[in-house]
Amino acid sequence: MDAFEVVGGNRLAGEVRVDGAKNSALKLMAAALLAKGQTTIREVPEILDVEVMAELLRRLGCEVTHDSTESLVVIDVPAVLHHQADYDLVRRMRASICVLGPLIARCGQAEVAVPGGDAIGSRGLDIHLAGLQKLGVEVSNEHGYLKAVSGGDLNGAHIWLDFPSVGATENILMAAVLAEGTTIIDNAPREPEIADLCNMLVSMGACIEGIGSATLEIFGVDSLHPTDYTTVPDRIVAGTWAVAAAVTQGDVTIRNARSTDLELPLDKLESAGATVEILDDGFRVTMDRTPKATDIVTLPYPGFPTDLQPQFIALNAIAEGAAMVTENLFEARFRFVQELSRLGATIRTDGHHAMVRGGAKLSGAPVEATDVRAGAGLVLAGLVAEGTTTVHDVFHIDRGYAQFVERLTALGGNITRVDVA
Ligand code: EPU
Repeated sequence: MDAFEVVGGNRLAGEVRVDGAKNSALKLMAAALLAKGQTTIREVPEILDVEVMAELLRRLGCEVTHDSTESLVVIDVPAVLHHQADYDLVRRMRASICVLGPLIARCGQAEVAVPGGDAIGSRGLDIHLAGLQKLGVEVSNEHGYLKAVSGGDLNGAHIWLDFPSVGATENILMAAVLAEGTTIIDNAPREPEIADLCNMLVSMGACIEGIGSATLEIFGVDSLHPTDYTTVPDRIVAGTWAVAAAVTQGDVTIRNARSTDLELPLDKLESAGATVEILDDGFRVTMDRTPKATDIVTLPYPGFPTDLQPQFIALNAIAEGAAMVTENLFEARFRFVQELSRLGATIRTDGHHAMVRGGAKLSGAPVEATDVRAGAGLVLAGLVAEGTTTVHDVFHIDRGYAQFVERLTALGGNITRVDVA
């Protein structure tokens, strides 16, 4: 088991490049299933979840090669796919559920293990299933597997989502592109990763209107063709570097990042006292003072992203003043707060609110990464804590941050990967 040892006190300075988004690349890999032949996906990050998705696609019958030096994945999709996604892979990565839509569209049936809960909450599938049922899919839950069957062609339908669920929309989209007729998804999420999936599907021959809006209109086509597609940059990784610059009172230029995908978090950093300079291919964050506490309310895009909430709690913990952080997406994301408290942060949670009293002089201690973003938040706290912080269970961080230690070290951070087996 690996851990990270972080010695606090260093100011981060320099340049860092961001890879393609984890939460897009995984779905783009699933979308490749929709067309027989060889699809290439570029800017795929070198992270654990990509390996799990590659293994899942292999089990479904694809040949997958991941060239990490070129950051690309090549997926050769056969004419006939297996249609079962096993529990041993789905339990390792909940995002495996995104093969459900493409498998139904390609095979007329799919069996995907029920993912169950995870460290950040119970995460239902009701919106996924209600949408697929509207397209004509029959779904049952047998022996821990969701069995989905379409008795013939899928039929387009008007679908109103109860909540703009990212995962549900991805599954519905990937089924609807090959359905008979038109599908409308209303109250659709506007996350950049949804637009990225739509754009890849269009590059495969799908017909989608309203990309980037809350109403997606999908005109079904008979078949799709393979494509060569580049993943959108990871806004959450970019945002994590931005907060790292702010907490260490550093000066970091973040390349291959889209500031337009991060308008609210960057605005919050400016409220905290940072200077954000927008560049052609990214942005630069400088901070020359102790941050000021800033309130956060997580909401679907363009609201504040839940995936940057722990990093901002870390910032607020050392800030001047106090801040209220409200988490509206994942009920268990505040588990991380207990770990941050071990470093000396003063935070009180009540339901989905956390009151963070700033001004803490953090001191290094052993802590546990409870999920990928919590892990990132703890590393940021460790960078400003006095002494050594040992972050355990860093496989969570490896799921979402490629070369985290190397990149932090290049910026001047004092962090080492150690084996604590
Ligand atoms: N929900 C339901 N029923 C459903 C679907 C969702 O109740 O059928 C609820 C969930 O329980 C949750 C909320 O709706 O409370 C949001 O779920 P959503 O489906 O929008 O999220 P997701 O697809 O499960 C993706 C990302 C998350 C990111 C969210 C929101 C991936 C693999 N995961 O999750 O990323 O926070 O969208 O943007 O794409 C992360 O990277 O750390 C992460 C958790």
